[in-house]
Amino acid sequence: MTALIGLQCHLCKASFPAEATYVCEKCLGPLEPVYDYDSIRLTREQIAQRPKNLWRYRELLPITGEPRTGFNSGFTPLVRCIRLAERLGVTELYIKDDSVNHPTLSYKDRVVSVAATRAVELGFKVLACASTGNLANSVAAHAARLGIECCVFIPDNLEAGKLLGSAIFNPTILAINGNYDDVNRLCTQVADRYGWGFVNINLRSYYAEGAKTMGFEIVEQLGWRYPKHLVSPVAGGTLLPRIVRGLRELRRIGLVDGDLPRIYAAQAAGCSPVVNALDAGVEYPEPVRPNTIAKSIAIGNPADGYQVIQCVKETGGAGAAVSDEAIVHAIQLLAETEGIFTEPAGGTTLAATIDLIKRGVIPRDESIVVCVTGNGYKTAEVVAGKLTEPVKLSRAFKEFEAWHASREAVV
Ligand SMILES: Cc1ncc(COP(=O)(O)O)c(C=O)c1O
Ligand SMILES: [Zn+2]
Repeated sequence: MTALIGLQCHLCKASFPAEATYVCEKCLGPLEPVYDYDSIRLTREQIAQRPKNLWRYRELLPITGEPRTGFNSGFTPLVRCIRLAERLGVTELYIKDDSVNHPTLSYKDRVVSVAATRAVELGFKVLACASTGNLANSVAAHAARLGIECCVFIPDNLEAGKLLGSAIFNPTILAINGNYDDVNRLCTQVADRYGWGFVNINLRSYYAEGAKTMGFEIVEQLGWRYPKHLVSPVAGGTLLPRIVRGLRELRRIGLVDGDLPRIYAAQAAGCSPVVNALDAGVEYPEPVRPNTIAKSIAIGNPADGYQVIQCVKETGGAGAAVSDEAIVHAIQLLAETEGIFTEPAGGTTLAATIDLIKRGVIPRDESIVVCVTGNGYKTAEVVAGKLTEPVKLSRAFKEFEAWHASREAVV
């Protein structure tokens, strides 16, 4: 069933076997799977008959045996937003809603489904990651279901909901005194010395492929067409380039045609190395020290920043960096207009979309997809004190009546 041939360096194109190697020994470029596309015979009808999870595109995913986990991950709703579109003054707007991904409510359930399956295939006994929170949640859940040992590394200042979202699965949690970039550096050293399967380090080539499925689904859910504009959050830079890679692959195997959408990178102003680089017209991001409420995307030194910049430029897109205030406002707007509660990463992406529309970079009369990648219930503190307070009443009916009358008087 698999078309996986091996790994290839993204930069110098040197070939490697499909093992847990992740950087090119010749030029230190990132490695990515290579498939024999000509051998893939996949039709829209075949896909339509498969279970609604990310494995419906398994020919384009880097595993050699059967999927081991993720049987309910992916195939999240693509929500047509009427009320939000009206508020923004645009005609065709969709939210790709990974805030309800299974089982841990973020886009990370896609990448972990693939990395965990590959980790089992490659014989790893410990599943690990460096995480800003969501990835740790997902790795811990998938490891629990697979019954394998799990160790997650996180910065020690994460939101309570993010910590709880890992702890409930009972992994080993190492909370490191430092930011994500410090955690990641430590994990790279651990991955090199110990035989652990770090999903986003030594298994990164496989992990990243899982993110393509968001692109596959958007095209399928739009009735096998590309949108005109697509806005993605950027942290380490896994998601955005893989959406583009997925969109290209669908065209390569004949499932869709037309021009790729313009791809836009959304970051918080308090951590915007990629948007800074786009604005400065340089190819590589300059690392920054993060300072934003959008902790899940607070990565100052993005592993795949170069690829993000390439993709944005190649598709004629742009970047937008938004303030913490705009992020919270966008979280509330999305909730109030569409009934979707996202975390700051989603608020960032929507706020960036609003900014790009206002600046005239995204036209108002063309289709727009906004990728919402995480769930607001995990980060309740960012909206605390900003929401409607409950009206407190006794259980007496007359008290309700008095309240109702006073309310009418106001209206
Ligand atoms: C909710 C959420 N959205 C988006 C991202 C962006 O990830 P990346 O750019 O590394 O794919 C992350 C993780 O880092 C995340 O947790
Ligand atoms: Zn190379």
